Amino acid sequence: MEDFLESLFVTLKAILLLILSTIRNLFPTGFLPRKDVRGQTVLITGSGSGLGRLMSYEFGKLGARIVLWDINEGGNLETLKELESRGVEGV
Ligand SMILES: NC(=O)c1ccc[n+]([C@@H]2O[C@H](COP(=O)([O-])OP(=O)(O)OC[C@H]3O[C@@H](n4cnc5c(N)ncnc54)[C@H](O)[C@@H]3O)[C@@H](O)[C@H]2O)c1
Repeated sequence: MEDFLESLFVTLKAILLLILSTIRNLFPTGFLPRKDVRGQTVLITGSGSGLGRLMSYEFGKLGARIVLWDINEGGNLETLKELESRGVEGV
């Protein structure tokens, strides 16, 4: 019985979130308020290249403090240098 109730709860929650995200997507970008990440710490995995590097720059523009996380140390240091040259705090 407990498993059934838990499954029901998760299913209903998933349906509710699906409905909410569908409604949110009906509005044009920038219409709804966005989460403010200024001064927040954001951890980016794969920050040494590609999408992770770009996400680091984008969150840096929004005023976040970036924690760079990558197995490619050289690439990660390049991202850090670029962030610092833009006045963004990264570690
Ligand atoms: N580039 C695209 O258009 C695209 C589209 C859809 C999905 N994706 C997916 O997004 C992810 C990133 O794509 P990308 O193009 O930026 O790839 P990328 O190879 O340029 O970057 C991936 C980074 O992750 C790092 N990495 C790998 N294993 C790691 C680990 N265990 N811990 C920490 N860092 C690790 C790598 O060193 C590398 O710097 C991939 O999973 C890719 O399949 C990419």
